[in-house]
Amino acid sequence: MSILITGGAGFIGSHTCVELLESGYDCVVIDNLSNSSEEAVRRVEKITGKTVKFYEADVRDKKALHKIFEDNSIEAVIHFAGYKAVGESVEKPLMYYENNLTNTLVLLEIMKGFDVKRIVFSSSATVYGSDNKAPLNETMPVSAINPYGRTKLFIEEILKDVYSSDNSWSVALLRYFNPVGAHKSGLIGEAPKGIPNNLMPYISQVAVGKRTHLNVFGNDYKTADGTGSRDYIHVVDLAKGHVKAIEWVLSTAGCEAFNLGTGKGTTVLELRRAFVDATGVEVPFKIAPRRAGDCDEVYASADKAKKELNWSAELGIEDMCKDTWNWQKNNPEGYDK
Ligand code: NAD
Ligand code: UD1
Repeated sequence: MSILITGGAGFIGSHTCVELLESGYDCVVIDNLSNSSEEAVRRVEKITGKTVKFYEADVRDKKALHKIFEDNSIEAVIHFAGYKAVGESVEKPLMYYENNLTNTLVLLEIMKGFDVKRIVFSSSATVYGSDNKAPLNETMPVSAINPYGRTKLFIEEILKDVYSSDNSWSVALLRYFNPVGAHKSGLIGEAPKGIPNNLMPYISQVAVGKRTHLNVFGNDYKTADGTGSRDYIHVVDLAKGHVKAIEWVLSTAGCEAFNLGTGKGTTVLELRRAFVDATGVEVPFKIAPRRAGDCDEVYASADKAKKELNWSAELGIEDMCKDTWNWQKNNPEGYDK
């Protein structure tokens, strides 16, 4: 049974391919490599000993997508492809709307044409906006505070409309919290281009000597130690959540949102300490001003995914730190040699 994975060469996509292949699914990947490397796909094959059918193409390219559906027996789609940097989306909103929305519309049109009506979509905890109080659950009102977040919100709405128009669709909207970590093998992981925006890749680049110190953005938040608290989730747990979501879309019709998080918050200083303890490597830090748009505390209620997808996160902060470091120290330049 073939699953089409858009953006399958990326961070979460590559880990998801490993889990799908190990669960017996065939993987067809489309990626334009705008934020990734084909080497990630080759490494997925190395980890699993299985083949991935890879197409270097843009999801907005109707002809290319049509051919993929013609050449393969696709049962369901996991849609990761899109741009994801919040700051960049504020500077270049049109680029974000154009890629994230257009590629989704093209994909849905082709899926409909081939009568493939099962889709798992990469949404984000960002759709909870800044007004809800943690633990965040799927019934809370959604909103967005930047163009990236609005693309997620709009795509969720588009998918809900598609389901309303035809109840034989099956749509899983997966709202990820903060994905970190890497595969145990150290062969695949997160390879951000330029200076990382997110905390864990920044910490690991300080550890490997690429950056001098971590800037801790604010120490006057309403949390145990004053630094921001987030729900970090190991990317392998997240990938396993996608296998469960695929089982769900293959077995039922419906349109549901599911949080994929651990249900626990960890502060910036707690994560830094856990990294130092897990790896034995020093991570110097300085307290810096707050980053615009950040809030005190974000963590999931993970009950719905547990109940309805039979999924919950198993790996803890120590695994997240160890596996991030194993990837980072063996691949200091990511996939570039
Ligand atoms: P990533 O950038 O590593 O992966 C996205 C992949 O999509 C890349 O390989 C990129 O080359 C590809 N791509 C982008 N536009 C494309 C297009 N038009 N056609 C073909 N390929 C295209 O990002 P990731 O961290 O793996 O995130 C995957 C998805 O999950 C994204 O939609 C992202 O918004 C969402 N998400 C990520 C996080 C996170 O922190 N990593 C959190 C919440 C949601
Ligand atoms: C960010 C995105 C969010 C996205 C999520 C995915 C912003 C404003 N939000 O969220 O849309 O869904 O990533 O993982 O970019 N921190 C530091 N120093 C750093 C980097 C971060 O102190 O160098 C702090 C932040 O202030 C925050 C915590 O670390 O308290 C986590 O930051 P980050 O990894 O960027 O994730 P989010 O802010 O949760």
